[in-house]
Amino acid sequence: MSVTIKSEHEIELMREAGRILSIVHDEMAKVIRPGVTTMAINRKGEEVIRSYGCIPSFLNYNGYPASICVSVNEEVVHGIPDKKRVLKEGDIVSLDAGVIYKGYHSDAARTHAVGEISEEDKKLIAVTKQSFFEGVKMARAGNHLFDISKAIQDYAESFGFSVVREMVGHGIGKKLHEEPQVPNFKPIGRGMKLRPGMTLAIEPMINRGKKEIWKLDDDWTCVTRDSQNSAHYENTVLITEGEPELFSYNKDLA
Ligand code: MF3
Ligand code: CO
Repeated sequence: MSVTIKSEHEIELMREAGRILSIVHDEMAKVIRPGVTTMAINRKGEEVIRSYGCIPSFLNYNGYPASICVSVNEEVVHGIPDKKRVLKEGDIVSLDAGVIYKGYHSDAARTHAVGEISEEDKKLIAVTKQSFFEGVKMARAGNHLFDISKAIQDYAESFGFSVVREMVGHGIGKKLHEEPQVPNFKPIGRGMKLRPGMTLAIEPMINRGKKEIWKLDDDWTCVTRDSQNSAHYENTVLITEGEPELFSYNKDLA
């Protein structure tokens, strides 16, 4: 399947899917504190998703066993919630969630501090979030896809951090993963031209240390090879004639 251009009606449904997801993230952020389990965060997220009549899109996706990906410290993405995994002061935790509203997807991730964290981790979280916004500045009709990729990479690397290569952002709509792939590093070439009505999940995964990762034996959890911490930030974005619209972001919420 090729890149889809969304109709005004589809955009309205995706806007609502995103609005709900921003609330899901805000509600999950409120339960984060030392002593909470990663499973409790998953339960809260799923409860809020269902309370809006939505479906958690990750549950059973390619066999993924939960609704929310909860990735702690050196875990990059796809951490599996566990009732025995207790967050402690000084951890950082990345939450990735997706909802389906009336057949349309939104996808977003946030990285949070657990209690007081190190200055370097505060910087990692802030730079990862800002690298997303640097990418978004380039997400405009007439620009090319890899303008987004380059902006993310240049920003993150200017702080000495590294960009994960194995996983990338993606088109999103009736399916969680649509074309095109949206790398967080610049490949050769410019990529396709951006057009109004394209919807993209832009999602930098940024490591404190080296870029290399590997997968744990659970076949899901991705961790940094050097065991240094990693952060993730993602929103579902609409390309327009002018300013991009961030469906899953509300500046007054988490
Ligand atoms: N947010 C992830 C992505 O963009 C999806 C998580 S994979 C799942 O690819 F299996 F957990 F759903
Ligand atoms: Co995604």
